[in-house]
This record gives sequence, C-alpha cells and structure tokens, in this order.
Amino acid sequence: MSDSHHPDGALPGHPHIARSNEQLMIEGLSAEELAQRFGTPLYVYSRAAIEQAAGQFEAAARDRPLGLRYAIKANSSQAILQLLARRGWGFDVVSAGELARVLAAGGDAAKVVFSGVGKTDAEIAAALRAGVQCINVESPSELQRIERVAGDLQMRAPVSLRVNPDVDPRTHPYISTGLRSSKFGIAQALAVETYARCARMPHLRVLGIDVHIGSQITSVDPYLDALDRVLELVQHVERHGIALHHLDLGGGLGIRYADERPPSPQQWIDALFERLQARGQGHRQVLLEPGRSLVGNAGVLLCRVVTLKSSLDGHFAVVDAAMNDLMRPALYEAWQGIEPARLHDGRQALRYDVVGPVCESGDWLGRQRLLDLREDDVLAILSAGAYGMAMASNYNSRPRAAEVLVDGTQAWLVRERESLDDLLRGERGLPG
Ligand code: LLP
Repeated sequence: MSDSHHPDGALPGHPHIARSNEQLMIEGLSAEELAQRFGTPLYVYSRAAIEQAAGQFEAAARDRPLGLRYAIKANSSQAILQLLARRGWGFDVVSAGELARVLAAGGDAAKVVFSGVGKTDAEIAAALRAGVQCINVESPSELQRIERVAGDLQMRAPVSLRVNPDVDPRTHPYISTGLRSSKFGIAQALAVETYARCARMPHLRVLGIDVHIGSQITSVDPYLDALDRVLELVQHVERHGIALHHLDLGGGLGIRYADERPPSPQQWIDALFERLQARGQGHRQVLLEPGRSLVGNAGVLLCRVVTLKSSLDGHFAVVDAAMNDLMRPALYEAWQGIEPARLHDGRQALRYDVVGPVCESGDWLGRQRLLDLREDDVLAILSAGAYGMAMASNYNSRPRAAEVLVDGTQAWLVRERESLDDLLRGERGLPG
C-alpha cells in the first residue's frame, strides 16, 4: 500500500478529489479553505462524485429490468438522500429511523425495501403503513411476526425471503454475511418449506427472493456464485407453484481504498445480466442495494493536527478527529489513505501513527504513514464517504462532526456540527 502523496491530478479512485499546486482540492475548493471555513473534524462530500457514481449505475440499468435501491446505512445524510431521490432511486433501509430519513428526504416508499435481522413489531407496522415495496424476511419466526402485525392492520405485507447462499465473498470477516455460519438469512435447506408456509399465510404476499453476501467485494465471481444458487432455489420454489416476481441481489460492490481494482457498476451489472441471460432468466426483475460504491470515494474526513509527539518507538500525529468520527480503522483495521491538505517539501517526513485523542489504544486512523507534518496542518482521511459519519458516535462526549457538500466552487453546510448543548439534550438530573 502506497502512502506516497499524489503530486498533481486526480487521486486514483477519487474522481473529483485532486492535487493542484500543492493543494488538495475537492472539486473547486481547497481542503484547507474548507477546514478553515467550517472547522474540523469535517466530513466533505463531492456532489459531482456522487452523481457520477449514480450515473454509472443508471447507465447500466438502462433498458434492463433493474431497480436501484441505495443502502442508506452507508451514508444517510439528508442531502445525499434527496439527491438520489430526485434521480429516481429507491432505498434499502434497516430500521424505522432509516425509513423516517428516506421519507423526510422525499423518497418514494413504493421503492423502499426493508432489510435487517431483527425488525420489531413497531418497525414492521411503520413499514406497512408507509407502503414499502417489500420487507426482506430473515427467519421463519419473523415471517410469523409480520403475518400477525399485517393481520392487526388488516393489510397484506409484501415480502421477500433473504436466503443465505453459503458463498464466501472473500472480504473482511466482519463484513461478510453470506456464509452459512453468519446470522443473516434463511438457510437454503429451509427456504422451500419457508416459502410454502409463507404462501399459506393470508396476510403475506410473496414477491421475491433476496441475498446479500457481504461488503467491499472486489470481484464479480462471488456474486455469480450467489446468483447461481439463487436461480437454483427459484426453480425449486416455483416448482411448488409459488411465483417469484423479483430477485434482490443485495449490495456490496467494493471501492478502491488502497490498490484494489473493483469492477465498475457497469461491469458488475453486465456480469449479472449475462449470467441471467445464459440461464434463460434475462426477463427477471432485479433489485440491487449498493451503498459504499455510491458515496465511499466521494467523501473525505478533514482533521487538524493538534500535537506531534515522539516516543522511544515512534512518532504520533494526534489529530482532532478520532475513532468516534471514523470507526473503520479501529473496528476492522481498515486502511484509508491520508493526504495532507497542503504539501510541505517532504524534508521532515517521518513515519507517523495518525491517532485521535480518545482514551483507547485502538483510536487510530492510520499507522506508519510517511508524512511531512507541522502542528495545525490539515489532513484528509480519504474514502470516508461511506460508513464514516453514519457510524459516528459521541464517545468521550465528543460532539459529532459537521458535514459539507461541495458543488463546483460552492459548499453547502448540510449538517451542523453538534454543540455541547446537543450532547446534553434529553438527559435529566436526579430528582430532588
Ligand atoms: N444491503 C444489505 C442487506 C446490507 O446489509 C448492506 C451492507 C448493503 C446492502 C450495502 O452494502 P455496500 O454496498 O455498502 O457494501 N461498516 C462496514 C460495512 C458494513 C456493511 C453492512 N451491510 C464497513 O465500514 O466496511
């Protein structure tokens, strides 16, 4: 993995983030200027980069029976949801909170799929009342729960069964979901009998079949393996007289963090439809739930160096962003690029561990990075548009960062920085 800083031009895999005259630019604005204007830590997203990624999916979907459902867990900022809703995207949600976000952003409930292993009665009722396209069901017992809630509301719930295809997506174990040992989905062996039960329940309407095998997948092969298994199951199920209207093949397409070379949306979708065609199933309605691949490389996390310090063993750059702002390094030992907003001449470059101020040794953002730094310099943590702000917390009573959307030479504050009052909101003192 290279940590040499990019001298000039677009950063590989980051179409609208570039180095120009020593300055790191997000579209037409410098990272340094944005940090100055909005403060740090700061999430910055490029609108053009999101629109470009969305456009690639849309181009691949053209003339195909393909519905695009953005998985909002990657980044649920209202501005981003609005942008995609206006382009006609649907959404994949996993909680009543995510559903509320989609509706608040003007998303069309009829294009919402509701996934997740533990939906509560209240969440199921909220989904049915909103009129979602489909609930992706993860267990036989959840099916009964949905039947009961739908019965109480005198409705018929549109459902799809999430099956576990038992394929290895060849990614980090924490983000791999389609293996037999994972908590997700219904085992293939139980699928046909579960569909049969489902068809007998008066308040359910079977719409389709659903898989999601994992995340940050960098080749099409695991998808094709999963698709083959899904098609086998579809045959079995339909032989029992139960028609399946759609195949939801989940999300998971990877992005370039270091030197990965994931397929493009077009390559991914072409590969899926070629396989469908080859199996005589090209007419099937397909849904996809991409998250990371739409927003991951459209965003950076800007932070400022607070302190430089050296120990006997090495050098630390303590910055004002931390694991509470960006959890991926601490949680998955994930590698994300780190670029100085403005380059010095490199003569004082040292191998730094870039760490946050949180009281945990796991609080690091990058290790052993060759950087020429001064205190107060601005750094950009790259590839932070997905699973960055969405996973942020208030640990150590740190207010969550602000978010800015850059559009050409304009910057919109799309979420205010949390205040100290926000931190205390909702808390009550002891009585008396
Ligand atoms: N659909 C379902 C049912 C999912 O569980 C997920 C992600 C997606 C779609 C979207 O996957 P994507 O296209 O974003 O890979 N926090 C981890 C990633 C967790 C992904 C969870 N599920 C990370 O930072 O790498």
